[in-house]
Amino acid sequence: MYLGLDLGTSGLKTILTDETGRVIETVEGHYPNPHPRQGWSEQDPADWITACETAFDTLAARVPAELADLRGIGISGHMHGATLIDAADQVLRPCILWNDTRSARQAAWLDQQPDMHRITGNIVFPGFTAPKLLWLEENEPDVFAKVAKVLLPKDYLRLWLTGGHMGDMSDSAGTSWLDVGAREWSDQALATGHMRRDQMPDLCEGSAVSGQMRDALRQRWGIKAPVIVAGGAGDNAAAACGAGCFSEGQGFVSLGTSGVLLAAKDRYAPDAASAVHTFCHAVPDRWYQMGVILAATDCLNWLSRNLGQSAAELAGGLPGQISGPSDLMFLPYLSGERTPHNNADVRGAFIGLDVAHGPADLTQAVVEGVTFALRDCLKALEGTGTKLESVIAMGGGARSRFWLQTLATTLNLPLQIPAGGEFGAALGAARLGIAAQTGAHLTDIMTLPDIGETIDPRPDLTDAYDARWQRYRGVYDAVNPDR
Ligand code: XUL
Repeated sequence: MYLGLDLGTSGLKTILTDETGRVIETVEGHYPNPHPRQGWSEQDPADWITACETAFDTLAARVPAELADLRGIGISGHMHGATLIDAADQVLRPCILWNDTRSARQAAWLDQQPDMHRITGNIVFPGFTAPKLLWLEENEPDVFAKVAKVLLPKDYLRLWLTGGHMGDMSDSAGTSWLDVGAREWSDQALATGHMRRDQMPDLCEGSAVSGQMRDALRQRWGIKAPVIVAGGAGDNAAAACGAGCFSEGQGFVSLGTSGVLLAAKDRYAPDAASAVHTFCHAVPDRWYQMGVILAATDCLNWLSRNLGQSAAELAGGLPGQISGPSDLMFLPYLSGERTPHNNADVRGAFIGLDVAHGPADLTQAVVEGVTFALRDCLKALEGTGTKLESVIAMGGGARSRFWLQTLATTLNLPLQIPAGGEFGAALGAARLGIAAQTGAHLTDIMTLPDIGETIDPRPDLTDAYDARWQRYRGVYDAVNPDR
C-alpha cells in the first residue's frame, strides 16, 4: 500500500492506494490560513502535523489491515513557503506562504541582482522563498539569526515523518536559490540572498527515496514493514504526475485557490524575462512551464464570504450554458498578481456595476475575470514558444460547467475532463511513492486519466470572449498603482 499526502493551502488531502495507484481510501482535513495583515498569508506548521496525525488515525480506524501493509509515502505541498527552524528543529515563527506579498520590495531588489535570472531561470517573485528571508533579516533580525534550516512546507512534513532534512528538485526550484537547469543549490544565488548552503536541506529527485518513516510512527499506527518516503514534489509538479503530464504539448489548467496553466517540457527552456515560471519536474531530466494567477477559486470564496452564500450556492446560481460575456467586469487581483504582471501592489476591481446587478451577475463576472487572467497566462506561455493543443481541467472550480465552458471558449482550447476518481496532486504524490519504492517505470505508473468528456470552445462565441478579454487587458493600467 502507498500513501499520497497533499499539503494544500486549505487542508491536507491523503489517499491510500495499491501499487497500481488504485485508490483505496481518501481522507481530507482542514486548517486555517490566517491573513494577519493586508498582503500577509501564514500558517502554523503544527496544524499540518495535527492534520497528518488525524489522517493516519482515520485510516487506522477505517482500513487498518491496508494501512498495516504500507510500504511507501509520497508528499506534495503548496510551494514557496518559508518554514523556519532552529538548530533543535523547532519552528521559529508561522510559515510565510506562497500568496504572501510582504516581501515585494526585497523581491524587486533580488530580481535586479547579477545572474539571478540566468541561475534560477525565473523572475524573483514576491511569493518565492528567497525574498521572504531578506524581509525577515530586516524586520525580525532575532528570528533571522536563529534560522538553522529553511524547509518548504511539505519538507517540514517529511522532517516529522522521517527525522531528516531533505527537499526535492521541483519544489526547491521555486525558492530562487536553486540552479534550475543544473538541479542543485546555487552558492551564488544563496549568497546574493544572504543565505548559506548549510541552511538548505539535501536534495533528491521526486521519484527517489528521501528517507524512511520513523519507527515510532510506524508502531503508533501498526505498520508492519519499513516504509520509504519519496522525494515528492511541489503541488503543481505532483498534479502533473497525477494527470500523466510529462511530454511536450501535454498540460493542465487548475482552478484551485490559485490558478495554474501548466505545460510539460522535455528540456530546460527558461524565459526569465516573461512572468512565466520554469521549474524542475518531479522526475529526472524533465521541466515544466506555467503561468500562475494568485487568486482563482479564492476570488469566488471572497465573494461567498461577503455575500453570505457558499461558493457552491453561488456557482449553482449561474446559467446552465454560456451565452456571451457579461457587461460587468471583474479584475481578480485580490492578492496582487504573478503572470503576466508580476505586481504585488495591484488589487482587484468590479467595473461596470449597475443598480440591477445581483449575486448571479457578480458571480459570473468573477468566473470570467479569473478566466481572462488564465488567458493572459496562455498568451505568456505561447510567447515563450510553448504550444498546447488541449489541456486537462482540474481543481474545485472545474466542478462548474459554466466555468468550464467559459474557460474553453476564452482559451479557445478543448478541455479534457477526467471521467472521475483521483488525478490530482495527492495521486501524483502516491505515484512518486510507488516509483521510489518499486522502481516502476514512470510511463507505467504516471498514466493519463480516463477522459470522460471534452468541453470544446463554442465557435459562435469565441470572438465575443476574445473582444472582452482585449478590453480586460486594457483596463489593467487603470488599477495599477505603480503606473
Ligand atoms: C506556484 C504557486 C501555487 C502554489 C499553490 O508557483 O505558488 O500554485 O503552489 O498551492
